Amino acid sequence: MLKFRQAELNDLESIIAIEQQIFSTDSYPAFVVRQLFDISGHNFVVAEEHNQILGYALGSVNSKRKQGWILSMGVDKVARGRGLGKQVTKHLMEVLKAEDVKEIALTVFPENATAIKIYKNLGFQKTQVLENYFLDNEERIVMTLRVNEDRK
Ligand SMILES: CC(C)(COP(=O)(O)OP(=O)(O)OC[C@H]1O[C@@H](n2cnc3c(N)ncnc32)[C@H](O)[C@@H]1OP(=O)(O)O)[C@@H](O)C(=O)NCCC(=O)NCCS
Repeated sequence: MLKFRQAELNDLESIIAIEQQIFSTDSYPAFVVRQLFDISGHNFVVAEEHNQILGYALGSVNSKRKQGWILSMGVDKVARGRGLGKQVTKHLMEVLKAEDVKEIALTVFPENATAIKIYKNLGFQKTQVLENYFLDNEERIVMTLRVNEDRK
């Protein structure tokens, strides 16, 4: 059965393997994932099926700006096209919304049509295009979504 839950320390090896499969030399090194795990609190969600981690979404909160961030999200190639990317992102958004944030933000490469489609489907809008965001002379789209507008 497919389920979505908070990431645990034991999941990191599988998460790192997916990161490396997807992002290759641009993937977060293991020590960065380990330390992000420690500071992410609840904001790290995995998709699991038959005890196998198939995807993850990692977030963080900038409490001073009341801003939640989606930092990384990925689905194992064997499990794509089943809605996992959208669902794992949605679960992370729910966790972020439960924090005292007014906005959720993320960045994405303009060529990443699949990810952009997911974020648009979930209500995100393109708010900026930043040049050289990762110091690699590539553009990066910033997408944001206002949340918790009913809260004071
Ligand atoms: C982006 C990614 C997570 C999508 O995972 P997934 O589980 O296959 O996505 P979903 O099954 O939820 O599909 C999402 C939508 O994209 C659509 N889609 C699938 N392939 C597509 C493509 N090549 N171009 C455009 N849209 C596409 C699907 O039809 C679906 O749309 P729908 O909900 O309207 O039917 C996955 O491709 C991945 O891990 N990519 C590499 C990592 C990455 O880019 N992460 C985001 C970084 S910001």
